Amino acid sequence: MITNEIISKVKKLREELRYHSYLYYVLDKPEISDFEFDKMYRELVDFESKYPELITQDSPTQRVGGKATGDFKKVEFKKPMLSLSNAFNGKELIEFDRSVKETLNTDNIEYITELKIDGLSMNLIYEEGKLIRGLTRGDGKVGEDVTANVKTIKSIPLYIENAPPYIEIRGEVFMPRSSFVSLNEKRDAAGIMPFANCRNAASGSIRQLDPNVTASRNLDFFAYSVGETEGIEIKNQESLLNLLKKFHFKVNPNYKKINSIEKVIEIINEWQEKRHHLGYDTDGMVVKVNDFEQQNVLGATSKDPKWAIAYKYPPEEAETVVENIIVTMGRTGVLTPSADLKSVQIAGTVVKRATLHNMNFIEEKDIRIGDIVKIYKSGEIIPEISVVLKNKRTGKEKKFIMPSECPLCKHKIYRTEGEVAYRCINPDCGGVIRENLIHFASRDAMNIEGLGPAVIDGLLAYNLIENIADFYELRKDDIIQIERMGEKSAKNLLTSIENSKNRGLSKFLFALGIRHLGEKGSELISEKFKDIDVLMNASVDSIKSVSGIGNITAEHIYKYFKNEKNKKIIERLKNHGILMKLNERKSEGNAFKGHNVVLTGKLSNIGRREAGEIIKALGGNLQSTVTKTTTLVIVGENAGSKLEKAREKGIKIINENDFLKIINNK
Ligand code: IVH
Repeated sequence: MITNEIISKVKKLREELRYHSYLYYVLDKPEISDFEFDKMYRELVDFESKYPELITQDSPTQRVGGKATGDFKKVEFKKPMLSLSNAFNGKELIEFDRSVKETLNTDNIEYITELKIDGLSMNLIYEEGKLIRGLTRGDGKVGEDVTANVKTIKSIPLYIENAPPYIEIRGEVFMPRSSFVSLNEKRDAAGIMPFANCRNAASGSIRQLDPNVTASRNLDFFAYSVGETEGIEIKNQESLLNLLKKFHFKVNPNYKKINSIEKVIEIINEWQEKRHHLGYDTDGMVVKVNDFEQQNVLGATSKDPKWAIAYKYPPEEAETVVENIIVTMGRTGVLTPSADLKSVQIAGTVVKRATLHNMNFIEEKDIRIGDIVKIYKSGEIIPEISVVLKNKRTGKEKKFIMPSECPLCKHKIYRTEGEVAYRCINPDCGGVIRENLIHFASRDAMNIEGLGPAVIDGLLAYNLIENIADFYELRKDDIIQIERMGEKSAKNLLTSIENSKNRGLSKFLFALGIRHLGEKGSELISEKFKDIDVLMNASVDSIKSVSGIGNITAEHIYKYFKNEKNKKIIERLKNHGILMKLNERKSEGNAFKGHNVVLTGKLSNIGRREAGEIIKALGGNLQSTVTKTTTLVIVGENAGSKLEKAREKGIKIINENDFLKIINNK
């Protein structure tokens, strides 16, 4: 039976989750820890699965609830979604200003300048505050219904409080540069064509048939305008932006109100360089007449409003020469071609190399050794070749041929059907082994400090290691043979190796480098199986049944543990005392009893969530902010204001190592 108490509890949970999502995703100022948020979220999920009749479409749990529709329904706009006319220099802006003043018959014009976000425009329809539809711009008159996908964008409210009966919010869906770079890294590793830029990645992600895929792409949204509205009067662009903020949308903070076109030009110049340091792509600046009555008088053509103009920055490009094309090997044996370039300066840094991704990319652009090419920085970070200047060819350029043998082990190179990547599939290939050893020791895996590529190359050169289990059998006398390795650094390395033994099942699984199994997947698998022995004996179907683990990944996991060689290595690692169980810390007791504990900064040996759980298990009370009741602050790397506050208040501070000692009873 659903009691009033349950109804009000569910309502309260939704309000709180909505508020904390807003603090986290829109304002970037969370007040509670991820752990506390997840706990509340799970509580709501539990209620909703027990009482499905309580589920509403605007519940925070319904972001990835929508079904893949198979196609995107066409929907006509009540008000067309216009585009903007462009200006490419100051003269064209002055002409725009002159024509605005002439039509309005006044010299007093207020302008708003806004950054032009490089994504795709979106129309969000809210009825009685509820998000009912998300439409792409389409041809400006008819858009495509991508509601299920738009709902996965966490900074877009599913519900607006105190909203008018009907309002269409318009703005830009974009992909932050950090998400773009990691998405392309994953695509490269999987042998899929990378996206050329953040805009293409955003638009490809919003047009996915499966909302789960869109959700995994970390899209974001800046609101900057409205379409059709009912029951609301807005005077100007400035108050519109304030209203959007009040409705809890993310509004780009870099807008300005000014009263002369000269100041507009100053601002445009100021942002020409500054824009490279933002976390998202911008391709210009939008200049809008502030007053809505004046906007009405100015009107629009069939395509563009006459009250706004987009100034477009020239793309940052440079010309250089492809001096050579080389191949490098990744962990999964994929051979990635890269261009060695004649050094050239672009968007603030010197560029010497550009990835060529795969053979398809080289063939599509017809890139040859000796070619003169134009390069740009994709996502403002990764140097890419945009075009080959074929008219500058001399005839001496050489076509690149992918080696038919692995450059490292001479094994035949294969190209799997349906994949663009060439791969060395020899499990004993020195290149693959090296990459796997580097990955095993890396920070997000076993985090063995001092065991980077150079030391691993040294250990390989002296035949001291062949596989990951050998790390744990190294002796000081072995290590000091390596160049630049003295007694002290050898001792430190052995300590780091020893310390890595307690990373736990999830980090260990990730460290094994099983194909397609990333950090998140490793966490999901370790939460389900809890112990490596259970996982090693699991059927492929039970691995497949883990939510968030795809069939291909499950098959790779299954095969990995059926391989005799892998089994032996794991046995040896077990004998060396590597922890292969979930959360199996020896901690018990009341170490944090009576303490109000705050965790801050990045912890490198333990997940935040796990740390939080342990603190609670040991009697502590977890707090999200430092207050006068806080008694202990645990600091990781890059701790910021919370650490300062703790110092100011004279609260006891301990670092991650001290924390690990406490929980391991050392
Ligand atoms: S206002 C009727 N403001 O630029 C005016 N557009 O090239 C509608 N854009 O289709 C647009 N940032 O997708 C506006 N701050 C901003 C913008 C912006 C990016 C995009 C938008 C538009 C395109 C025109």
